[in-house]
Amino acid sequence: MEIANLKFPNPVVLAPMAGVTDLVFRKLCKKMGAALTTTEMISAKGLYYTNQQTLKIADVSEEGKTSIQLFGGDVESLVRAVHIVNEIGPDLIDFNMGCPATKIIKNKEGSALMTEPQKVEEILRAMVKEATVPVTVKIRLGWDDQNKNYLEVAKRAEQAGVAAIALHARTRQQFYSGEADWQAIAQLKREIKIPVIGNGDIWSAQDAIDMMEQTKCDGLMIGRGVMGNPWLVRDLVTLLAGEKLEEKPSLEEIIGTITEHLDDLIEYKGEYIAIREMRKHAAWYLKGQPKASQVRVLLNTAETKSQMEEILWAYLDNQNTFH
Ligand SMILES: Cc1cc2nc3c(=O)[nH]c(=O)nc-3n(C[C@H](O)[C@H](O)[C@H](O)COP(=O)(O)O)c2cc1C
Repeated sequence: MEIANLKFPNPVVLAPMAGVTDLVFRKLCKKMGAALTTTEMISAKGLYYTNQQTLKIADVSEEGKTSIQLFGGDVESLVRAVHIVNEIGPDLIDFNMGCPATKIIKNKEGSALMTEPQKVEEILRAMVKEATVPVTVKIRLGWDDQNKNYLEVAKRAEQAGVAAIALHARTRQQFYSGEADWQAIAQLKREIKIPVIGNGDIWSAQDAIDMMEQTKCDGLMIGRGVMGNPWLVRDLVTLLAGEKLEEKPSLEEIIGTITEHLDDLIEYKGEYIAIREMRKHAAWYLKGQPKASQVRVLLNTAETKSQMEEILWAYLDNQNTFH
């Protein structure tokens, strides 16, 4: 995959996910082979008012290529945010036009912008002009079934100088329901010249290969499939290289990864926040394992690193009798 002047060793892109793709999780996915990762979405206005929390989520000090994703709804605040992001120095800046959350929509941001292609073009033109790195955009199919205008929005984005487009092939109205329409990704690929990154419903490495074959997209963006399963990135990179897939991780390996993830989170965010954030990650990691719901309940009561580790190791030692 190539985006503007950037060359990537493979097409695997980690989707931006608020509450998930922080620096620690991105590092883990990079270790598994992701060529490009993206921060959680960052409010342009929040960045401008330099809220420390916002600055922290814009930290892209990991190895390898990373994009900072901004959301906003007006040229002025986005241009100010781009100036700040230029100083932080990511490899790319991404613009969010996919978020379906009501609190974002009511400010005419995120996927609400799909209804205003003209304004989008103005915003993107201004961002591209001010950014010192290539600007990409992440869109949906449109607002709803009756208003699927992704081709128009994408063409305007291309006109505005955007370097690549990621398409989450659902409408805003769908949120995350129904199936992603991969045929729309194929159509977008046929109609624009800049790289297209396909997104939606890649749950296995084979899904990703199928998406690439069916759509001819340049990049493969994976979101929910890697929550608690960063090995999906490794499997996909392996399959793309034509190599044999490794065994699925054993419970021991999964728990080893959870404890490393926890250590890194503690180092980065402090124990109090790390423990609370790790509860949801641990639940995702252990999904599908025997007695997963029991261990989840216990993990939710853990207050310290040692308590969390004790619960995990006891579970590993005694999985079948765990209660
Ligand atoms: C918990 C969560 C948080 C998300 N946060 C963002 C975000 O900050 N920015 C964004 O563009 N998309 C966000 N998304 C959407 C994903 O990037 C992706 O488009 C969507 O999950 C579809 O891909 P998937 O089927 O591989 O999960 C989020 C999705 C989830 C599940």
